[in-house]
Amino acid sequence: MCGIVGYIGERKVIPVLMEGLRRLEYRGYDSAGVVFFRKGALEVVKTKGRILDLEEKLFEKCYVDAAAPGLGHTRWATHGEPSDKNAHPHFDCTRSLAVVHNGIIENYYQLKSELLEKGHFFSSATDTEVIAHLIEEFLKRGCAPFEALCKAAKRLKGSYALAVVFKKDPEALFVARNQSPVVIGLGEGENFVASDIPALLPFTREVIFLEDGEVAILTKEKVSIFNPEGKEVIREPVKIEWDLASAEKGGYPHFMLKEIYEQPEAIQHTSLGRINQQNGEVDFSADGLSEDFFKGIKKLFIVACGTSFHAGLVGKYLIEEKVGIPVEVDLASEFRYRNPLINENTLFIAISQSGETADTLASLREAKKRGAKVLSICNVVGSTIARESDVVLYTQAGPEISVASTKAFTTQVCMLLLLSFYMQKRVAKREPDKNELEALLSLPGILKKEMSLWHEKIKEISKKWYFAEDFLYLGRNILFPIALEGALKIKEIAYTHAEGYAAGEMKHGPIALIEEKVPTVVLAAKETGIIYEKTLSNAEEVASRRGPLIAVVSKGAEEFYKLTQDVIEVPLTVKVLLPILYVIPLQLFAYEIAALRGCDIDKPRNLAKSVTVE
Ligand code: AGP
Repeated sequence: MCGIVGYIGERKVIPVLMEGLRRLEYRGYDSAGVVFFRKGALEVVKTKGRILDLEEKLFEKCYVDAAAPGLGHTRWATHGEPSDKNAHPHFDCTRSLAVVHNGIIENYYQLKSELLEKGHFFSSATDTEVIAHLIEEFLKRGCAPFEALCKAAKRLKGSYALAVVFKKDPEALFVARNQSPVVIGLGEGENFVASDIPALLPFTREVIFLEDGEVAILTKEKVSIFNPEGKEVIREPVKIEWDLASAEKGGYPHFMLKEIYEQPEAIQHTSLGRINQQNGEVDFSADGLSEDFFKGIKKLFIVACGTSFHAGLVGKYLIEEKVGIPVEVDLASEFRYRNPLINENTLFIAISQSGETADTLASLREAKKRGAKVLSICNVVGSTIARESDVVLYTQAGPEISVASTKAFTTQVCMLLLLSFYMQKRVAKREPDKNELEALLSLPGILKKEMSLWHEKIKEISKKWYFAEDFLYLGRNILFPIALEGALKIKEIAYTHAEGYAAGEMKHGPIALIEEKVPTVVLAAKETGIIYEKTLSNAEEVASRRGPLIAVVSKGAEEFYKLTQDVIEVPLTVKVLLPILYVIPLQLFAYEIAALRGCDIDKPRNLAKSVTVE
């Protein structure tokens, strides 16, 4: 989704903006642009395509030495096709200001008609351009830049992260936020703004998150933040612990592969600090979570999108089994527009890697309005979902740059497992199984050993199947969400059609798809007892219809070798860890198929890392 970066200070502005934009590339975009000061005027350079194309344009025009302040933007089209014209920044009629914007202005049509009537002329089909003209309108009425921005912001409906530069005020950058993240980076004699932390990491780790309705003025020396009533707000900066290296590829061909291989550490970081070394119990006191929080809770809703939704489905199995409280799992885009039965005895759990997903955030707000307590599982410190929750449990996955979620997923599952242990003890008043906790602690070591073995086998299998146009993924019980996740992953990055299904449901429809050209990936773990036997029968149903099988199964599952030679063996463990162990081979499989198909793995077409619009 769109990305913003802005700079004010003594450095040459173009390299700062380009560096920031490159670090936002992972969010997905179709065009890019910058605005900066040159000979006392605002100069915009923008283009459809990649950042490299923008760099070429800047180079051709010899603009690399331009002066700050400046703004950069990567656009992910919503209103108006990807094109040079629709790329940001956008000017008003007189080029007196330039705007970059993330989000969607819902009343743009009405505003545009108003402005057209007043004689403004538009150069693009975007909703963003109305903002520039609206500010211009207030300037014309005699407002100073800050006042004009505040007045314009009050007329906007929808979501926005805005950054604006004014020709008549080259000593300042202006930003505003509503439902779309803005983070301000603090430096010595310089300041930065971005829509996302990675853009700031090369320059600073001291940041301030803007809240909804706030507007800020950045100069070289100072950052001033104002609330919607115009009162100045004093906010302490937050220190971002992620280092630069963790946001770089570190020798891997793609972020996705690096992030797959980072999973042992990510799981270790997520679990270690929450397991009391003395008594082996799960302890969330450092996260501000205590037993009291769960008082009176009779029902849980877990709400999320995409991969995080699949983690939520795993959470249902874990929590219902261990705590005995009913758990409903819903897609955020559905939840927000239905009439969920929620009251003060409901706990709402939002799961979101980015903490900015528009549908999840809207669902959280709806649940809060209806009286639910809100706990979120997020990876990004200070993100909107995190800030609006009563309690936040941060996964310690580190920055996830690849659009396809991998380590965020396994750490979300890990966190849900820890939460289920905690609730088992504190809410259901039953002792968690020590073997399970110990198995979780030894999981990173097992993964480190197994991952490269799986990878070798998967490379072999992928060569046989990379051309397939359809895949079926089957799993049961706690491995059903993993079948869904495996199918999502290969769709996302290899552009291969895939369906995830509950294995027992296959005969009610998808069995009709089975034929020699359609491989079925089947997940079967001996730890699931009778469910293993049932899944084996489903695999036999596929094989007897000449459907090729790829089996991800427990070590020593001889039965599957009778059906296929494409077997990936997973060591035996406890049932609650199966989702983490079984999803990793599927991530690697999707990765290898995508690589063989020549796909843009880290930035798959049409996708965005953080989906901040509906
Ligand atoms: C994951 O591979 C996807 N890119 C996507 O489904 C993602 O999980 C979804 O958009 C939710 O994002 P969030 O976790 O940041 O809320």
